[in-house]
Amino acid sequence: MKHLIDLDDFSLEDIDSIIKKAIEIKTNPSKFQEKMKGKIIGTLFYEPSTRTQISFQTAMLRLGGQFVGFDNPINSSVAKGENLKDTIKIISGYTDIIAIRHPIEGAAKAASLFSSCPIINAGDGGHLHPTQTLTDLVTLKEQKGNFENLTIGLCGDLKFGRTVHSFVKMMLKYKGNKFIFISTKELSVPEYLKNMIVKLGGEYEECSSLEKSIGNLDVLYMTRIQKERFCSGEEYDAQKDIFKLDCGKMKLARKSLVVMHPLPRVDEIEGCVDDDPRAFYFKQAANGIYARMALILHIFSQQNCKNVSVKGQKLNMSCSNKRCITNTEKYLPKSFLKSNNEYICEYCDSRVK
Ligand code: CP
Repeated sequence: MKHLIDLDDFSLEDIDSIIKKAIEIKTNPSKFQEKMKGKIIGTLFYEPSTRTQISFQTAMLRLGGQFVGFDNPINSSVAKGENLKDTIKIISGYTDIIAIRHPIEGAAKAASLFSSCPIINAGDGGHLHPTQTLTDLVTLKEQKGNFENLTIGLCGDLKFGRTVHSFVKMMLKYKGNKFIFISTKELSVPEYLKNMIVKLGGEYEECSSLEKSIGNLDVLYMTRIQKERFCSGEEYDAQKDIFKLDCGKMKLARKSLVVMHPLPRVDEIEGCVDDDPRAFYFKQAANGIYARMALILHIFSQQNCKNVSVKGQKLNMSCSNKRCITNTEKYLPKSFLKSNNEYICEYCDSRVK
């Protein structure tokens, strides 16, 4: 079985082949309309979604397969207290592949330990969102031709924005990319990502002005402030409305700028920008279907893959991240990877203090 929890689970060759396939499907969709005939995807959405959920379902339908699932755990036996392990053991017996979205970090990894079919991470709390990155890559491939030597600005909620984390990790694998992180101090990119950039010889800058940085960018990745991840309304209110992309700022940008946003947006991009030819976020969302069709085909094409278990050391300590799945689903084996005298939780990537 081949799960997709993090894009690190796939080789660069695998990812390039998925992107190429997505573009092939987009060009000639009828060629693929029977490829998943008889197969069923389970879409288990413990958290709201428009694009990811519906594009996974549409992707499977367009490949000739079917879908089952829930879009709110209240309508499932989760509401009666069923844990993640039992839900996954049951649904993986009913379906051929599962896409799971969950508000808790590391939930998809946890699900993969108990599943008898492949698991796709459709977003785990503020941690990762690898299939959004595949969608982003398809869009960048179309607009830039390759993924190298780009100055990439990421703006907004870089702390809780899981799409940012997956996208940065991925773009680090391609040479010559430079990151400009545009955020408040409170919502800056997690330390583990900054450490990763340094370790891999990448380059990044942090700044607090979109106006000052926009003229230097090849790609601008805007994000929503993730209201649902804040502990209080006051904390959210202090962060909202700080960064706004408007037509005035677009005048300072290069003609070749590619503006992306995983969506949904609230008000961080003004409506007038939608008509700018450099705004690609609606095309990016449309590419989600092809990226997910290609991903499903790729996973089913895998032969001789091993089942997964935890890779790290099973130590008698807890993850210090309160939002980590190991702190809500207590039966999970706690597992830590050692890096430079530190322990990193294998589920949520947090450094254990
Ligand atoms: N980009 C994204 O994940 O959108 P949804 O939350 O609507 O799925």
